[in-house]
Amino acid sequence: MNIEKKKPKPAEILENKKVGTDYYLMKLKTDNIDEKWTPGRFVHLKISTPQTYDPLLRRPFSLFDIDRKNNILSLLYCVVGRGTKIMSRLVSGEKLDFLGPLGQGFSLPEGKTILAVGGGMGTAPLFLLCRELAFQNSITLILGGNLCTDVEFFKHRFGELDIDIKIATMDGSCGYKGTAVDLMKKHLGVNKDSISKEPTSEQTISKNLNNKRTNDKKPNNKRTNNKQPNKKESNQKEKNNKESGSKEPNREESIIQEKKVKDAGFIEQKKKLDFLYTCGPEIMLSAVKKISDHFGIPGEVSLEERMGCGIGICLSCVCDTQNGNQRVCKEGPIFRLQEVIL
Ligand SMILES: Cc1cc2nc3c(=O)[nH]c(=O)nc-3n(C[C@H](O)[C@H](O)[C@H](O)COP(=O)(O)OP(=O)(O)OC[C@H]3O[C@@H](n4cnc5c(N)ncnc54)[C@H](O)[C@@H]3O)c2cc1C
Ligand code: FES
Repeated sequence: MNIEKKKPKPAEILENKKVGTDYYLMKLKTDNIDEKWTPGRFVHLKISTPQTYDPLLRRPFSLFDIDRKNNILSLLYCVVGRGTKIMSRLVSGEKLDFLGPLGQGFSLPEGKTILAVGGGMGTAPLFLLCRELAFQNSITLILGGNLCTDVEFFKHRFGELDIDIKIATMDGSCGYKGTAVDLMKKHLGVNKDSISKEPTSEQTISKNLNNKRTNDKKPNNKRTNNKQPNKKESNQKEKNNKESGSKEPNREESIIQEKKVKDAGFIEQKKKLDFLYTCGPEIMLSAVKKISDHFGIPGEVSLEERMGCGIGICLSCVCDTQNGNQRVCKEGPIFRLQEVIL
């Protein structure tokens, strides 16, 4: 266990401002933002000032953006409870500390056709991901929200990137009228009724009305690795991944998935897609997973659980998986979509 990694790192607030109806952007100056700061990883932020212990527990936030050159970390958050309320009142010049970057990041493929699906604030970790992948991949992003105001900030920020952006809002005030999943199906050319047991729009609306991050999910994640590379390769890969916090895409698995896609004879004809990323409300993740399973499209999902330590000790973030329990803070928050049971 790397003790160094667990030492809280100091940070100074450069900016903390409201950027949407419910969204805040906090920019933190810190030390040494290096190659370990990869998309999908998170920081565990101490919101209380050094004089107080209230709130006692740190709060986890995904890396929204990083500026390696100037050592600036950006977090995007919405106020959902006491901790984030306190956070929203902090001003520039105040000092905080955090643990991180923690957890496992997204795979970072090259030369792929990628679809990223984000719902509400869950879209936050996708920004850094898309920024890092945009140069070497073809990316379509589907942004889902209840109202236009939910997606405006993301539309503006993702608009800086060389990616294709599609928007879905429940009230139709921006883009497609419906859910991000409805738009995903349209994008893929999937018949709305061809995939069974998906949540109806009505179910999604009622769930999305509480679209702020809720803790009602019971993710069951399983990560398997069918690939059997030689031992040396394995060890080296494991070492590299541990160091960078990123997971390498499993090539053999990709080939199997690609074959499944071909056998399905559908996506290939309608829309070629190599990889999916998704974050957002659980009902959306579950529907995205069903489509991904149905067509054999490999992908990754960012999960959330309430966290205590954030470093794998307290087990408060444990999820049931087909392989036994997994800690969202340690084995996650990024899991293979195919292995998660939502
Ligand atoms: C890996 C990870 C990355 C995250 N990234 C972001 C991010 O980029 N932006 C962002 O706004 N939020 C993010 N969250 C959620 C964020 O940590 C919580 O919203 C925050 O901790 C709530 O603190 P609070 O004191 O304001 O709320 P509390 O008063 O503690 O809780 C208020 C409400 O929020 C729910 N909640 C609290 N913590 C979580 C959690 N961890 N997951 C789901 N629901 C929770 C509670 O169940 C309750 O309904 C992330 C969570 C995880 C686990
Ligand atoms: S938060 Fe303590 S083990 Fe994950």
